[in-house]
Amino acid sequence: MSVNKLILGDNLEILKTIEPDSVDLIYLDPPFFSNRNYEVIWGDEGEVRSFQDRWAGGVDHYIAWLKERVTEMHRILKPTGSIFLHCDWHANAYIRVDILDKIFGYDNFRGEIIWQRTNAHNDAKKKLAVISDTIWYYSKSNKYTYNPIYSELTDKYKNDFYRFEDKRGQFRLGDLTAPNTRNGESGSPWKDINPTNKGRSWAVPNNIVEQIAGKEAVKQLTVQQKLDLLLANDYIVFSKNNIPSVKRYLDNSNGTMLGDVWTDIVNVQGASKERIGYPTQKPEALLERIILMASNEGDTVLDPFVGGGTTIAVAEKLNRKWIGIDQSVQAVKVTEFRLQNQLGLLAISSPYTVLLHKYDYDKLRNENAFEFESWIVRQFGGVPNAKQRGDMGLDGKAADGAPIQVKRSDNIGRNVIDNFLSAVQRSDKKLFDKNIAAKLPIGYIIAFSFGKGAVEEVARLSNKENIIIKLITVESIIPIAVKPAITVSINELSIDAKRVRKIEFIAAGQSENGIEFYSWDFAYNASNGFKPQVLLDKEGKQIYSFKTGTHNIAVKVVDNNGLENIETIRLKINGAVEREAKNPA
Ligand SMILES: C[S@@+](CC[C@H](N)C(=O)[O-])C[C@H]1O[C@@H](n2cnc3c(N)ncnc32)[C@H](O)[C@@H]1O
Repeated sequence: MSVNKLILGDNLEILKTIEPDSVDLIYLDPPFFSNRNYEVIWGDEGEVRSFQDRWAGGVDHYIAWLKERVTEMHRILKPTGSIFLHCDWHANAYIRVDILDKIFGYDNFRGEIIWQRTNAHNDAKKKLAVISDTIWYYSKSNKYTYNPIYSELTDKYKNDFYRFEDKRGQFRLGDLTAPNTRNGESGSPWKDINPTNKGRSWAVPNNIVEQIAGKEAVKQLTVQQKLDLLLANDYIVFSKNNIPSVKRYLDNSNGTMLGDVWTDIVNVQGASKERIGYPTQKPEALLERIILMASNEGDTVLDPFVGGGTTIAVAEKLNRKWIGIDQSVQAVKVTEFRLQNQLGLLAISSPYTVLLHKYDYDKLRNENAFEFESWIVRQFGGVPNAKQRGDMGLDGKAADGAPIQVKRSDNIGRNVIDNFLSAVQRSDKKLFDKNIAAKLPIGYIIAFSFGKGAVEEVARLSNKENIIIKLITVESIIPIAVKPAITVSINELSIDAKRVRKIEFIAAGQSENGIEFYSWDFAYNASNGFKPQVLLDKEGKQIYSFKTGTHNIAVKVVDNNGLENIETIRLKINGAVEREAKNPA
């Protein structure tokens, strides 16, 4: 199974199943303790209920709810791991004092990041505008992964600070000394200038020395020789009072070192490219900064409130492993489609697993047979055979040691029972006889369903010959459901002077569990996979414009179990709109 996982469920239950000390970085953006209507993001039944419960009990209730989850997060973080908890003014003080200081310890506080998410609008004329969120940053111990982050220089900063220019480019003047006197070379005079007279010592920029004379020079030259080298190469200027400064060029700048106030990351706006359509989606730039700062490539990043999947999408781009959890089917499926969109655009794209509450009957029926057999044997608590061949049709052993056969089909007939019986005897006659004597099952057959002939033969064997064979349906091992059905109708709405046609698409999904949402790909290419331009459409209605030519469109419907179905449409537009519904390219 892949390391990367998207899991549907209450994060408390799922966090409990994760190994201790196994995750490098956790970012969480839980529902804030604010207006509950605003917080009902997805509108799922389950979510509405849990929000209402939480708010009914006030802030103490909210803190208790969050605290048990953060306790689990602390347990699964590696000793070098960090947590970033995104919240706002409603509960940030309680979260710090009652949760983070208690669980992570006051000494492991690493920062209070103030993220300016918006500008003050008109209502700031009447009262002070709240325009920031808080992101609490704690580590599990005092040895933690930290990569300094630089923010890009604004034009204003460049012009204000890099005020000088020479043939090498724009530069600013930097200090060549640091506070406090020191002995040795750093405190010895150069060109009759003694820094210790002013309570300071030399601070030579080794990166420039290295640029001029290489790495070895940094190790071998004395402080005074390095200063000579800088002067000879026109890196030092003297002020009127004979104070030397070093030229620091804009081209060599990494930007400004970043502190805990982040004002340069714009929130997801109506027209942003990354917008997927719900109010609390966080910008990718925010997550990129956090992930780069507190993890390295190959590390595992967890978001237990994954929402629209920003953390996961960025972790994947930055070559981290990831786990995302959400209790909302919509969140998990939108995140999955968002990832699909991104896969293929990236040089590296890693496999992942989506764990829902129910399995799609059709998908299981059509899966690779050997993989299905091994998987279902494990789900049954047994051990699958390592190899596919030479097993006499037996696929593994149950927890009691009796053989298992898996049939990836429905309506299993009598002949399967006969063959199984002889295979079990041939594979281990001693065990077979022992189980009969002890009135224990001689083996198990797992299938989607069993026909009358098979059921009757199993009953006869048990009654007349004391041979017990257990018939196990897949559904009794794992929950399965039938995926939703989907139909799509189209209406031509208009045609303009350039023969561009506006076409309305209406998708209708059917499922006994109810439909969650639709996603649309208007330039579908089966070999690239489904790459929706519209990720989250609750209504199933879209209007799209097409020029003359052939167009492939795909729409996916997702039901309340998270099961999905796809309908593909091929439109030929040439004078009239012609639809071929089946077998698109
Ligand atoms: C504020 S949103 C997260 C948004 C996310 N940071 C993004 O950028 O898309 C909070 C999410 O937490 C989920 N959630 C709330 N309670 C949960 C729980 N107990 N277990 C798992 N997910 C939960 C909600 O379904 C919602 O999707």
